[in-house]
Formats: sequence, structure tokens, C-alpha cells
Amino acid sequence: IPEGVDVKAEIRRLCKEKNALIMAHYYTEGVIQELADFVGDSLALAQKAASTNADIIVMCGVHFMGETNKILCPEKTILVPDLNASCSLAESCPADEFEKFVKAHPHHTVISYVNTTAATKALTDIVVTSSNAKQIVESLPKEAPIIFGPDKNLGHYISEQTGRKMLLWDGACQVHEKFSAVKIQQLKSKYPAAKVLVHPECPPAIISLADKVGSTAALLKYSVTDSAQEFIVVTESGILVEMQRLAPNKTFIPAPAEDSDNTCNECEYMKLVTLNKLYNCLKYEWPAIEVEPEMGKKAVKSIHRMLEISK
Ligand code: 13P
Ligand code: SF4
Repeated sequence: IPEGVDVKAEIRRLCKEKNALIMAHYYTEGVIQELADFVGDSLALAQKAASTNADIIVMCGVHFMGETNKILCPEKTILVPDLNASCSLAESCPADEFEKFVKAHPHHTVISYVNTTAATKALTDIVVTSSNAKQIVESLPKEAPIIFGPDKNLGHYISEQTGRKMLLWDGACQVHEKFSAVKIQQLKSKYPAAKVLVHPECPPAIISLADKVGSTAALLKYSVTDSAQEFIVVTESGILVEMQRLAPNKTFIPAPAEDSDNTCNECEYMKLVTLNKLYNCLKYEWPAIEVEPEMGKKAVKSIHRMLEISK
């Protein structure tokens, strides 16, 4: 970036010139969330992509989020500032292995978390996010056998919430898997009035400590509307930016990872999105996400079913 250039102003100017929309997930750096036109959870980001009339979407988040946008809007240019921004859940579920699993269990409805590749979505009947997974599972006939992938923790939680037995894929989020019940208990002793907010990608032992379990958007809403003044936040720490912005007088305490020295828990992939990469990808319209059209046509059905049920 040339010296003396006001990167933020340049990004806004380029957006206007190119009719581009910048979307960001709550786990990205604060500076990215502040600059974005739209910040949301996985469901809101998909809904926004499906409804925008922008010509370009810059998806500040991870690769599967850009892919979801491209599947929904194949005619648009979808940019992701760093294509290396992967996701341990998407990686845990390669399409060829998932296909074998699906074929070994015929007559099952295949539900996949949005944190999957386009190829895995193409094998899926209905996509879900943590905002709507319970609602979507409950929308299926009581006796319908279900495969749920790839997040075993979300699957286990939804299974408990709905009383539905489901065949679970053995995947997990590397960020949410690393929280420590012992460290959360220590924080609870230190802040006895604090409410504990937990994302359902966490293992059952962590979820059992929660006052509120929910997607990033649900946790945010709870932190703003609940009367508590202190919250222990058991999800990726980027969300504290929006929590603190919406409730500046409340105290938000990030839960650390099990193996860390009491520092907050971050998703290394989300943090690959930087201001300079955002500027460059908007300027050069690169790197763009491509999805093979035939695969996109198969995958889009499972996302449309989700959007239909979550209207
Ligand atoms: P939500 O924003 O839908 O809660 O998803 C969390 C997440 O891990 C995204 O990768
Ligand atoms: Fe994937 Fe976990 Fe990072 Fe979300 S926080 S992108 S689920 S690795």
C-alpha cells in the first residue's frame, strides 16, 4: 500500500466505485468489523448474500463463507481476502469420505452445518447454522432418520435439545474444543455475578456451565438485553468487539483456551483477514472464489431449504 494512503478511506471509495459490499463475521478483527457494511453470524451473512444487489461481495471471514455466497450468487464476484482462511470443521469432512458415510446410511436426511465445503454441501439435504439447527431438525417428521455433520458437539447439543437421535460425523472446531471447564470455573469464582455465554460448538462439559447457549448473534443479543453486568464469553474473542460496542458499560471476560496462559481464544483463520489484504483484494478483485457450476447447482438446493425454513 503506497505511503500516505488512507487505507480505510480508499476501501470505502473503492466500494462505492465498484458497487461492492463488505461483509464480516463477528470473529474478525475489530478494525474489519468497524469498516464492514454488514456484520453478522453465519445465517445472517448467507441471508444478506442472497438479498443484496451489490456486484461484488468481499467476505471477510473464512473460505466456506465465501463459497456459500458464491453458491447463492454465482453471477457475482465473491472475494475472500485470504484463501488460506480455512476452518477445522470444513476440513474434518472431506466430501469423498462424507459420501461413503451417506451411502452407508441410506434413507437418512442429511443435515450439514454451514461450516462445510461446497462439495460436502452438494451431498446434503439441508444446511443449518447454529442459529437455526434446532428449528430445522424439529421441522422434520419425528421418525425421520438423520445424519448430522460435521460438528459432533453441535450435533450432540441439538440432539439433547430436540430428543432426536442422530448419526453424528466426528468433527469439531479447533477453537471451541479448546476451552477448559476448570478455567471457566475459576472465572466464575472470581466473577460470581457473571453470566456464562457459550457457543454450541463447545463440548458438552463446557455447555453444562452455560447460562445461555447460542450462535454468535444469539449470544450478542442476550448480552445486550440481559440485566447482568458481567459476562464470561466462551466463544471466539472477536465477538467482544461488538458486545462492548453495543453494551459499553458492561464487562465482558473472554474465556481462555485450555493450553494458553490465560489469554483469550482466537480463530487463527478468521484473524488472517487484515486491512491490507482487504484493500488489495478489493482493488485487484483477487482472490475470487470459484465454485464449479454443476456442484453449485447441487449445493444451492440445501442452502435454499435452510433459508426457506428460517424465513
Ligand atoms: P455463528 O456465527 O453462526 O454462530 O458461527 C460461528 C462460527 O464458528 C463460524 O465459523
Ligand atoms: Fe471454523 Fe472454528 Fe474458526 Fe469458526 S471458529 S471458522 S468453526 S475453526
